[in-house]
Amino acid sequence: MRINYNGMTIFVKDNYESMSKKAAALVAAQVTLKADSVLGLATGSTPEGMYQALVQMYLQDEVDFSEAISFNLDEYYPIDASNPQSYHYYMEEKFFKHVNFKEGNNHLPDGKALDVEEACKAYDEAIYEHGIDLQVLGIGNNGHIGFNEPDVHFESSTHLVKLDVGTIEANARFFETIEEVPTRAVSMGIKNIMHAKKIILIASGEAKADIIEAMIFGDITPKVPASILQLHNDVTMILDQAAAGKILAKLMAA
Ligand code: F6R
Repeated sequence: MRINYNGMTIFVKDNYESMSKKAAALVAAQVTLKADSVLGLATGSTPEGMYQALVQMYLQDEVDFSEAISFNLDEYYPIDASNPQSYHYYMEEKFFKHVNFKEGNNHLPDGKALDVEEACKAYDEAIYEHGIDLQVLGIGNNGHIGFNEPDVHFESSTHLVKLDVGTIEANARFFETIEEVPTRAVSMGIKNIMHAKKIILIASGEAKADIIEAMIFGDITPKVPASILQLHNDVTMILDQAAAGKILAKLMAA
């Protein structure tokens, strides 16, 4: 199902697999139409299926990343790239090593920078120099995008974040104990994200249903960081039925 609402395109797919395939198809289309596309990429559970689908497409010669460039949204801090919990490691294992990006074309925030402020500035400069064509986002249960947590203002550029207790709890599933979850991260800011020419947001599962409703129908507020996407002029949301559980009736009635 495809619905247009308030300038956004919303796809509601039957399940996680079809959501993932739809997202992969849009990323592949972007890179096919513009070989040197700059992709903004996300980690977490939600995009895993999308990366798997893209790898399959690559193996079947349906997509080519040889000219593409990527910038990831975030990385824990402090963390070494070789740590299996790092987002460097995640991206390498789940995506980069299986496809054909050129060496040096994949960028992530430095989780080990000694001068974090300087590293954030350099990351911003690199992003603005290239310009993101297509930004892929997941969404936290509290409405965060990247690691822009609910706040009293929108943080614009790449910055060091103190993660919310809820985010640490949600991410604990990837660690042996909750104490091991890093409490800080380096994240692109809202301005970096809003500068992307196109944005795709993917969400799956009932746990995301309330925040999806708040993001689409609620006020635009830094308390729900993803609500700012209402102001972007090219947003596509790809949700599974469960994530769309609270909005379907409203969208139909709109
Ligand atoms: C990850 C990121 C986060 C996740 C969000 C949802 O790079 O930026 O905003 O997208 O925490 O995570 P999952 O997909 O694990 O529910």
